[in-house]
Order: sequence, then structure tokens, then C-alpha cells
Amino acid sequence: MTSEDKDLVKVEYDNGVAWVSFNRPEKRNAMTPKLAGRMLEVLDEVEVREDVGVMVLTGEGTAFSAGMDIKEYFRDMKGKPHIEEIRARRKNWEWQWRRLRYFEKATIAMVNGWCCGGAFLPMASCDLAIAADDAKFVLSEINWGILPAGNVTKAVAANMPARTGIYYAMTGLPFDGKQAAAYGMVNESVPLADLRKRTRELADVLLEKSPAVLKSCKEVFKRTLDHNLGWDISEEYLIAKQEQLWMLAGEERERGFKQFLDDKSYKPGMGMYKRD
Ligand code: COA
Repeated sequence: MTSEDKDLVKVEYDNGVAWVSFNRPEKRNAMTPKLAGRMLEVLDEVEVREDVGVMVLTGEGTAFSAGMDIKEYFRDMKGKPHIEEIRARRKNWEWQWRRLRYFEKATIAMVNGWCCGGAFLPMASCDLAIAADDAKFVLSEINWGILPAGNVTKAVAANMPARTGIYYAMTGLPFDGKQAAAYGMVNESVPLADLRKRTRELADVLLEKSPAVLKSCKEVFKRTLDHNLGWDISEEYLIAKQEQLWMLAGEERERGFKQFLDDKSYKPGMGMYKRD
């Protein structure tokens, strides 16, 4: 990978947080096959760093991302062997969906501006999302004659009320960060000037938690949801994961018990126990 390719994604490490930014602001961070390759590398790098507890995904400039690069993923693929197209798309879905959705660290999408079409997928794959009030979300596919495919429709259906999601998929009309928060597509929206500060505050709440418990917490939530587990299997699965966690990080709950029941130094309903 050339240094130019590496620059397609910017990574900054700061006190437990990896700030990962799409870095094609002049193209509104439209995602190319090379960017997908770089994101796979970045995810591998961030995931194993012990000094990182939270990864924030955002975009440089005025866009989070304008979605799939229409030239590189669509027009330039015309006439190429089908296998090439499949490989390029597979790499894209690999990072946006399989890797990111079950990433081993907590993830927050920080939606700073335009979030179009294909960009809904990485945004929704993050555990949490915060948008700028004026960020613009648009399922633009219908406006240029394709479907919100590649699991974008699934990401919308899973994170918005059905009537609202189908409305935006069928009309291609935009909605803003405040609306996205009201629909549940993002957790909250704040003025753009406060976006980074608010994201950092949320990351700091997550950094207080035990990394092992946090990882397991997000994983069981998503797998229970994604696999539509029935109540019996879900119960079995959650018990098994809980027991696995006690074996791997049982000291965490012991600390919690002690500080609540013996030391009376905190109340679980009102915050976190001291981890050190
Ligand atoms: N694919 C390829 N190029 C894109 C792109 C995309 N998804 N989104 C933006 N660009 C390019 C533009 O072609 C332009 O290139 P140029 O400078 O060589 O002319 C550059 O990025 C800047 O875009 P521009 O349209 O001038 O920016 P804007 O701020 O006026 O508008 C958007 C922003 C997001 C509204 C507009 O760029 C847009 O509609 N993009 C396409 C969104 C889309 O449908 N994405 C695909 C979803 S799968």
C-alpha cells in the first residue's frame, strides 16, 4: 500500500480513543476500493492496541461520507471481469459489516456532515452514533436508479421505525441530525461545534468500564438481535457468555460486590465502581 493509499484514512490516538477519519474531503469522503483496503488494515491495527478502548469513526471536512464512490465502484467496473467487481464489493462489506459490527472495541460513529447511501452501513455498524444537528442523511440510491443494497436497507430497517425508513428509501429525501436522533438512527445530535467534545465525553464513559465486560456486552446484544434468537436459546446463550466472562474476568464483579456491599463506597445504580 502506497503512502497515498494510507492517507485515505487518518488515525489519531488520544488517551484511550482511536479517532479514525475518512480522508477524502475533496470527494466528500466517498468510499473507494482502496479506502476499503486501508480500512481493513486500520481495523486490524486498532483492534489489537491495548491503549485503545474506543474507536470513533468520522470524516474529514463537510461529510461523514458521501457513500460508495459512484465512479470507482460503478462506472469504472463496467466491462471488467465480474470477479473483479465481486472482489471489490466483498472487501467493502467485509470492513463495513463483518469486521466493524463485531469489532472488539467499543465504536462510536461521529456523523459530522453528509451521510449518503452506502455510508449508512458503517455508521449503523458502530455501536453508538452521535450526529451534528445539521448533518444530512440521505438514502440517495433511488435518486440515481439503484437500490440501497449491500445491507444498507437492512441497516436502515434495524435502526429506524419501518414507516420512516421506507419513506426515506422510496423518496431519497434528506433528513438532518436532529431527525436522525428522534428516529433512533443515532443516539443524539448536538451542534457541530460541540460534536467532538460530546463524543469524547461518551467515549470517556465507556473507557471507565472493564474492556472484557464491555466487549462481551456489545457482542451479546448484537448477536441476540442479529440472529433473532428465541427466548430459550437466547437464555442459554447469555448464560454461557456470562459464565465465560466470569472465568475470564471474574475479578470485575468481585470488585463491584465489595465496593457496594462491604465498603459501601458506590451504588451500581448511580455509576461505576473503581477499577484500580
Ligand atoms: N462518488 C463519487 N464522487 C463523489 C461522490 C460519490 N459518492 N460524492 C461526491 N463526489 C465527488 C463529486 O463528483 C465532486 O467531484 P469533482 O470535484 O471532481 O467534481 C466532489 O466529490 C465534491 O462533490 P460535490 O457534489 O461538489 O459536493 P457538495 O458538497 O456540493 O455535495 C453531496 C455533496 C454529498 C450532496 C453530493 O456530492 C452528492 O450527492 N454525492 C453523491 C451521493 C450519493 O448518491 N452517494 C452514493 C451512495 S451509494
